[in-house]
Amino acid sequence: MEEKIEALKQQAREAVASAAKNLSELDDVRVKFLGKKGEFTAILRGLGAVAKEERPKIGAIVNAAKAEVEALIQQKNEELKARAMADRLESEKIDVTLPGRRATAGHLHPLTQTLDRIKDIFFRMGFSVEEGPEIEKDYYNFEALNLPKDHPARDMQDSFYITEDILMRSQTSPVQARTMEKNPPNAPIRMIAPGRVYRRDEYDATHSPMFTQVEGLVIDEGISFADLKGTLELFLQQMFGEEVGVRFRPSFFPFTEPSAEVDISCVMCHGKGCRVCKGTGWLEILGSGMVHPNVLRMSGYDPKKVSGFAFGMGVERIAMLSYGIDDLRLFYDNDMRFLRQF
Ligand code: PHE
Repeated sequence: MEEKIEALKQQAREAVASAAKNLSELDDVRVKFLGKKGEFTAILRGLGAVAKEERPKIGAIVNAAKAEVEALIQQKNEELKARAMADRLESEKIDVTLPGRRATAGHLHPLTQTLDRIKDIFFRMGFSVEEGPEIEKDYYNFEALNLPKDHPARDMQDSFYITEDILMRSQTSPVQARTMEKNPPNAPIRMIAPGRVYRRDEYDATHSPMFTQVEGLVIDEGISFADLKGTLELFLQQMFGEEVGVRFRPSFFPFTEPSAEVDISCVMCHGKGCRVCKGTGWLEILGSGMVHPNVLRMSGYDPKKVSGFAFGMGVERIAMLSYGIDDLRLFYDNDMRFLRQF
């Protein structure tokens, strides 16, 4: 009997030492020897067959052996846990000395930068910003601007109609009428209105069916053409440099009278004549004029009490001229090689 217990103890020792390579295998060993149906339990159960006087002695030996095996298993359990932890520490190690991944910051699109510069100049002259919808009523896009339904000048801006009465606005000028309507009659106005406009057009180096305009409107008592000229000259000098040449040419817009096209001296050749200015030395940059009395009247203003001037410019064209860009499509291509340069 005693030899049997000794042999079992030896078996258990070997099993703990070699068979149990992880915690679950160690548990199998524990169940095999110490579990309810385990080897040592079986011996204790079999004690009935042992002579009465022998029983306490054998019982004590079995219990001592059990305790010994338990202690071995406990020790191995701690060993295995420590090893598992060490393995995890090793495999989940991070090298905190590795340089991090830098978050790359973008920047504003060149058109937005140009628009911001334009706004900035007008802010300093006390202008506010107004906005109007890109999907506009025929009334505001044309009629309120002195272009009745059959007016031939509507052909100048071949437009995208959604219904008979609704279209993609072909200019930012409808914001003139909307702003006057919003204000009490004859209240002074000094605003710009930037935004996208749409015209049926080619898509090439200098045309696009969608582009950006900035409208301007000033209304007050006694506003004259001199105010128009002074304001736009100052703006163009701030935008293109003090030395830029500015000239006003008579023109026609249905909503202004008199009207003027504004040119600046060519930014490429400084007036000598080159490919960009087609040899003329001048670049057309703005449409402008004194607000037509009909336009004032239709939006509730009294042309006998107040007068005003309006202007409109293309932001893409100004950006092309100030950065020396020769293809308008580059603004919309989203090519990083282009955009990164600004
Ligand atoms: N709306 C005109 C255009 O798009 C420009 C303009 C605006 C002219 C205001 C005069 C006054 O061509």
